[in-house]
Amino acid sequence: MSHENKFKQQVRRLYHKLIIAFGLIGIAVFAFIYVALNPSILHNKPEETEIIAIPQVEGKIENGIHMETGFVDEEGLAEVIQNCTNCHSAKLVTQNRMTKEGWIATIRWMQETQNLWDLGNQEEAIVNYLAINYAPQKKGRREVLTNVEWYSLKD
Ligand code: HEC
Repeated sequence: MSHENKFKQQVRRLYHKLIIAFGLIGIAVFAFIYVALNPSILHNKPEETEIIAIPQVEGKIENGIHMETGFVDEEGLAEVIQNCTNCHSAKLVTQNRMTKEGWIATIRWMQETQNLWDLGNQEEAIVNYLAINYAPQKKGRREVLTNVEWYSLKD
């Protein structure tokens, strides 16, 4: 092999090494930019994307009453409409008055016997809404008389 050929061969080898080196640098730069733009891929856990759907109240509210259902417009109304008007009319709910324990018991009863679903993280809002707005009413009027001995007036 001539001197010149050997030199050419060395240059060619160097040239190949340079191409590989630049290639690797290129890949590294590319990867760096990619990670810089998507830092989340470095975390093991996928980013928690808990979807919190906040139910919205649809329909008219007049004088603090949701016209379609008759429910009082207070905090928790949307959750109650979403979960408590599917099987029976809202009236079955609004005509009842219960303590918080009573409402929870009614919900459990429906869950055990009427296929009511698990209310999940909406249960608290629903129970509070019911317990506050449909609480047992204090007796405003005197109770109906019982045990009265009636007598007829004579003239
Ligand atoms: C999966 C169906 C279903 C859903 C949803 C449902 N209920 Fe009921 N609920 C029933 C059935 C069935 C009855 C019995 C109806 C009857 O007696 O005519 C009932 C009865 C009731 C009663 C009357 C209980 C009694 O002792 O008379 C109340 C109050 C009530 N539901 C409230 C609610 C509330 C509050 C919600 C929302 C958390 C709700 N319901 C959601 C099925 C359901």
